Amino acid sequence: MDKLMRIMQALAFVNLVLVIICVLVSMSCAQEADVKSAPCDISTTDDNNLTLNCSRRSLNYIPEWPAQIDDIIKDTHVLVTFFNNSISNVTQLSVLPGGRIAISFKANKIVEIQKDAFGNIGRLVYLDLSKNRISGEVLRAEIFRGPYRNNEYSNIALETLNLGHNEIHSLDRYLFQFTPNLTRLYLNNNPIEILDHVTVHAIASATNLEVLDLSKTDIATIPINAFEGLTKLQQIDLSNNKFISVPESLSLVGNSLKYLTFNNNPIVELNDDSFIGLTKLVELEVAENDYLDEVKRSTFTPLASLRVLHLCHNRNLRYISHNAFRGMKDKWTLKEVYLDDNNLSELSTDLMPWEKLETLGMTGNNWLCNCDLANIVTAQGAGKKFKFGEIPYCAAPMRLSGEYITNITVSFCPTFDTTFTTKRSFRFGDLKPKHILWSIFGVATVVAFGMMLGWIVKAMKTVYKKKIKTHPIRYINLSEDSSFA
Ligand SMILES: *[C@@H]1O[C@H](CO)[C@@H](O)[C@H](O)[C@H]1NC(C)=O
Ligand SMILES: *[C@@H]1O[C@H](CO)[C@@H](O)[C@H](O)[C@H]1NC(C)=O
Ligand SMILES: *[C@@H]1O[C@H](CO)[C@@H](O)[C@H](O)[C@H]1NC(C)=O
Ligand SMILES: *[C@@H]1O[C@H](CO)[C@@H](O)[C@H](O)[C@H]1NC(C)=O
Ligand SMILES: *[C@@H]1O[C@H](CO)[C@@H](O)[C@H](O)[C@H]1NC(C)=O
Ligand SMILES: *[C@@H]1O[C@H](CO)[C@@H](O)[C@H](O)[C@H]1NC(C)=O
Ligand SMILES: *[C@@H]1O[C@H](CO)[C@@H](O)[C@H](O)[C@H]1NC(C)=O
Repeated sequence: MDKLMRIMQALAFVNLVLVIICVLVSMSCAQEADVKSAPCDISTTDDNNLTLNCSRRSLNYIPEWPAQIDDIIKDTHVLVTFFNNSISNVTQLSVLPGGRIAISFKANKIVEIQKDAFGNIGRLVYLDLSKNRISGEVLRAEIFRGPYRNNEYSNIALETLNLGHNEIHSLDRYLFQFTPNLTRLYLNNNPIEILDHVTVHAIASATNLEVLDLSKTDIATIPINAFEGLTKLQQIDLSNNKFISVPESLSLVGNSLKYLTFNNNPIVELNDDSFIGLTKLVELEVAENDYLDEVKRSTFTPLASLRVLHLCHNRNLRYISHNAFRGMKDKWTLKEVYLDDNNLSELSTDLMPWEKLETLGMTGNNWLCNCDLANIVTAQGAGKKFKFGEIPYCAAPMRLSGEYITNITVSFCPTFDTTFTTKRSFRFGDLKPKHILWSIFGVATVVAFGMMLGWIVKAMKTVYKKKIKTHPIRYINLSEDSSFA
C-alpha cells in the first residue's frame, strides 16, 4: 500500500511538471504568434470607439491591418496611430472599415507619399502628417483622392489635415481638389517664407476652411486675395512670423473670423488700421511681441464683438492710448482683459469701463501707484476683477514699491466728481490729460506753498516784533528783579 501511494504521488508530480511545461510552451508560442501577426494593439473604449496602436514599434513600413479589423461595425470611430516610428514611404493603405477614421503618422521619417495612398479609406476624416520630412513636391492632388468611379476620382471626407513641422515651401495649386470638407489645416513650422500664387490658390480652394494655422512659417505678408472665398474661416494663427503689421488681407474674412492669434511678430505699434473690418472677432491674442512699444488710439475700435483680449508678455509695451477703445464704451462687449507682463506703468482712468469687466490681469508690469491707478482699482472697482492670487504690485513711487495695488489708498487724491470729468475733456488728441492736471496741481501747490510761506513770514515778523517789544520789558523786569537782589 505504501509503495502504491508513493508511485501515485510520483506520477502526480510528473503530471504537474508536464502541465507546467505545457502551459509555458503554449504561452511562449502564443506570444511569438502575436508579435508576428499583429504588431499593433487593438483596444476598444466602448462599442463605438476602436484604437489601433502602432506607436513606437520601430516600423519602417506600413503593416497589414490585423484580422480583427474586419469585425469593425459601420459607424465605429477608428483611430490608427503610427506615432514615432521610422516610416519613410506612405504606400497605399488597405481598406479600413468604420464611420470616422483618424490616422496619425506624427513623428516618422516620411519623404514620400504614394498616389491614392488614402484611396481605400473614403471615411478618413483626420490625418496627421506632422513632424516628418515632407516637401511641397510630395503633396500632389493624387495623394488625397478617393476611388475611381464612373470615369472620375471621388472625393474623400478629410476634415483635418496636419502638415506641421515638415519641409514645405509651397503647396500644389490643386492639392485640395478632392477634399471639399477640409475644415482644419495646419501648416505651422514649415519654411514657407513667401505665400506664392500657387500656394494662395491652394488655400483659397479650401472653401470650407474654419481653422488655419500659419504660425512659424517665416512669412512677412499675406497676399490680399489669399483668403478670398474663405467665408467660413473662424480661427487663424499667425504667430512667430515676420509681420511688421497685422496683414490687411484679414479684413476679407472679417465677417467670419472669431479667433486671431498674433504672437511674436516684429510689430512696433498697433493702431486704427491694425484690426480693420474684424467685426466678428471674439478673442484676440497679441503676446510676446518684443518690439511692440505702443497701442495707439482707436486700435480696438473695429472689434465690435470682442470678448477676450490677451495683450500680454510684450516686454517693451509702455503705452496704451486712453483712446485705444474709442467709441466702444456704449456697446461694451469685453469681459476679459489680460495686460500681464508688459512694461506698463500707467493707465488712463477712462481707458475702458473697468466695472464692466469680469476678469482683469495686470501682474508683471511696472505700475506707478498714482491717483489714476487708485481711481481705477478702488473707485471703478477694477481691484475686484483680479484672479485669485494675481494681485499686481506697485513698482513706484519708492514708498509704495512692493505693495499690492489694491492696498493703496492715496488720501491726497482729489475726488473724481463730475466737474473733474468735464475738466478732463479739454484735451488735444493724445495729449495725456493727467499731465495737464498734474501741472495744475503743481501750480496750485506752489501758489499754496508761497501763500503759506508769506503767512509764516508775516507771523514770524509779528512774533519778532512782539519779542522785541517784550524783551526790554522783561529786561526791565529782570533788572528790577536783579535790583531786588
Ligand atoms: C466614442 O465615440 C463617440 C461617438 O460614437 C464619441 O463622441 C466619443 O468622443 C468617443 N469616445 C472616445 C473616448 O473616443
Ligand atoms: C501604444 O503603444 C506604445 C508601445 O507599446 C505605448 O508606449 C503607448 O503608451 C500606447 N499608446 C496608447 C495610447 O495606448
Ligand atoms: C521617438 O522615439 C525615439 C526613440 O526611439 C526617441 O529618441 C524620440 O525622442 C521619439 N520622438 C518623439 C517625437 O517622441
Ligand atoms: C515607396 O513604395 C513604393 C511601393 O512599394 C515604391 O514603388 C516606391 O519606389 C517607394 N518610394 C520610395 C521613395 O522609397
Ligand atoms: C462632406 O460633408 C457632408 C456633410 O457632413 C457629407 O454629407 C459629405 O458626404 C461629405 N463629403 C465627403 C466626400 O465625405
Ligand atoms: C521698461 O521701460 C523702462 C522705461 O520706462 C526701461 O528702462 C526698461 O528697460 C523697460 N524694460 C524692459 C524689460 O524692456
Ligand atoms: C496689504 O495690506 C494689509 C493690511 O491692510 C497688509 O497686512 C499686507 O501686508 C499688505 N500687503 C501688501 C503686499 O502690501
